[in-house]
Amino acid sequence: MFLTKYKLKFLIALAASLLFFCCVAQQSKKRGLKDFYRNYFPVGVAINKRSLVGDELNLIKHNFNSLTAENAMKMTSLQPKEGVFNWSTADSIVGFAVKNKFKVRGHTLCWHNQTPEWMFLGANGEQVSKELLLQRLKIHIQTVVKRYRGKIYAWDVVNEAIDDNPNNYLRRSKWYEVLGEDYIAKAFEFAHEADPNAQLFYNDYNIERPDKMANVLRLLKSLKQKDVPIHGVGMQSHWSIFEPDQLALETAIQQYAALDLKIHITELDISVYPWEAQERKKRPDESEAFTAEMEQKQIDKYEMIFKVFRKYKDVIENVTFWNVSDRYSWLDFFPVSGRKNYPLLFNKNLQPKKAYWKIVNFKHN
Ligand code: GLA
Repeated sequence: MFLTKYKLKFLIALAASLLFFCCVAQQSKKRGLKDFYRNYFPVGVAINKRSLVGDELNLIKHNFNSLTAENAMKMTSLQPKEGVFNWSTADSIVGFAVKNKFKVRGHTLCWHNQTPEWMFLGANGEQVSKELLLQRLKIHIQTVVKRYRGKIYAWDVVNEAIDDNPNNYLRRSKWYEVLGEDYIAKAFEFAHEADPNAQLFYNDYNIERPDKMANVLRLLKSLKQKDVPIHGVGMQSHWSIFEPDQLALETAIQQYAALDLKIHITELDISVYPWEAQERKKRPDESEAFTAEMEQKQIDKYEMIFKVFRKYKDVIENVTFWNVSDRYSWLDFFPVSGRKNYPLLFNKNLQPKKAYWKIVNFKHN
């Protein structure tokens, strides 16, 4: 009798713990990335037209609560000809977001790439005048920002204005050539006028590298000094299994936060190859395998950066991935066209990779 009573208690305790672990496991399956990070920041993803109809859709709804248009809101997509706006994809993305309660980050209002040629040409094919270019910039920014007022909460206003060569400070783009440094401040002012409630960001890559960071800080300080309406800095975060290290990342976050700017991680992916600035052809001997070593390094890198993001949750207000899964990434085409990359948290079959489990199980680390 005595033994039986204890056996019974033991069996009940065993059953209860099994039930508990099953529930926890079920819960983990039911929760998506955004749920694990509910107390930290929204988790976003860059999408295109296909994402809204294909089988990635459920994965997107389950894991993310913020969206960026990968290409649909760039100048060349929205205004391919002067005065002719093409809203269809951008409208579908924003419509989907509003219906499904996603936040939307707008990307991007002024950039040297993916900008139509007509923007920089005068009536006779000569270089556009300063006055006309400024007027076109204003019209473009205000038409776009007003259309999505109240639906897009943050805009990447100027993208990649800092040169990769630290001695140059600003990139010698057409914008710079025609308008001088002032185009940056103007772009922010135009956007702010169009939607005073939108959070306005300067967005760029490699800005945790000390040389580039020094120039980004110089620009941001000068904008703040001139009272330009800028609210944050977008760290694109096209990183790799080789960089950044924790010290570089934390230093950058601290430096930007010290300017009283919000930080958004705007275009996160972890390439399995080293960073290269120039496009080039794939070498015949170049392997495309996702090796065990790459996988482990990627897991470690994702684990480290998310640990840092959580630590700085008071200043990091959004973390957005650039593309959904390893089925398609822009890195399959750049810098080496046709070389498969594996930079994201979901594999080609849309299943979570080991790196995914590493970053969602942070309480147990
Ligand atoms: C930059 C741009 C993005 C996108 C990526 C590559 O980071 O900001 O819009 O073009 O390059 O996909």
